[in-house]
Amino acid sequence: MAGVSVQAFRRQGRRYGAGLVCSEMVSCAGLEHRNERTLGYLRVAADEHPLAIQIFGSEPGVMAEAARMVVAAGADIVDINFGCPVRKVTKTGAGATLLDDPRRACAIVGAVAEAVDVPVSVKMRRGLEHGSRACLDVGPRLVEAGAATLTLHPRSARQMYTGEADHALTAELVELVDVPVIASGDITSRERAQSVLATTGAAAVMVGRGAQGNPWALREIVDGDSVEAMREEVAAELILFVRESVRELGERRASGFLKKFYGWYLGRGRFPRPFKQELVQLETTDKVVTRLFAAAPGAAEIVERLESELPDPADEILLDSMPISIYGGG
Ligand SMILES: Cc1cc2nc3c(=O)[nH]c(=O)nc-3n(C[C@H](O)[C@H](O)[C@H](O)COP(=O)(O)O)c2cc1C
Repeated sequence: MAGVSVQAFRRQGRRYGAGLVCSEMVSCAGLEHRNERTLGYLRVAADEHPLAIQIFGSEPGVMAEAARMVVAAGADIVDINFGCPVRKVTKTGAGATLLDDPRRACAIVGAVAEAVDVPVSVKMRRGLEHGSRACLDVGPRLVEAGAATLTLHPRSARQMYTGEADHALTAELVELVDVPVIASGDITSRERAQSVLATTGAAAVMVGRGAQGNPWALREIVDGDSVEAMREEVAAELILFVRESVRELGERRASGFLKKFYGWYLGRGRFPRPFKQELVQLETTDKVVTRLFAAAPGAAEIVERLESELPDPADEILLDSMPISIYGGG
């Protein structure tokens, strides 16, 4: 998820039982131009694998080159975005618009599959307009072009995130293709996951918003362990998330990025409402961390343990310290 699936989020997801995690969507044009911020998305740590890195764009050749780069950075799967409904992306001919241009979509998948030797997956919406069934036409063609799995978020682009994901369509797609289909949309509990798996025949479910500030939802979905997280545990996960995000994004970007997470972590009756407001108003992330330790002193021991279990940063592949030539083709 763009603006959410930073490395700290993906690592946390793996710790709480996610079988596979995915990066934010990465612009192939940004990679082509060696844009510093775009290259920053390709930071991969030893404890994230298996990891998919998602790329978006509209030119098969540029997408193929981007795919080579993300594999060099450590991706185990290259995922292609045919689902983004945001105008900034669709107006460039990328994201969900490609569902309306199956020939180009197939050319992209073909070029990417040809360029890398890891599996190539596609993430898509049902189509552009309300009620569209485009995914059922495009999906099998993408498989023929080289997609090894399809993930379907069965809302239209026009719907954005309103209404409900229509997993009846996921079931139809499963019938049409002989590759694993992953169901995305409104999976927030084990009960919902089991029901979607059973009624669609999907090979797996993908959890998005349900895991925001709530890795415990993943544990519940995977293990059926629905024990409410203790206050100390919530504070500790948030503190680690803050520190890791600062390490990844730098203080200035991280302090803006993190604000939405305070509500996600501290809501659900876990902390009194004004507490979130207080954190949002603090000027530095150091102050946020100090305030969290004060509110939940027992978090210190948990944070210490979690930090001691992180892999050695020296094992991390940092693309920005790599010679550009490693990317090939440029
Ligand atoms: C803030 C946000 C950013 C997202 N960014 C991406 C993205 O970059 N690539 C993608 O394939 N899907 C993206 N999605 C869609 C999710 O992957 C998922 O399909 C959708 O949210 C439905 O699943 P959920 O109900 O579990 O959240 C995003 C969703 C949200 C809410």
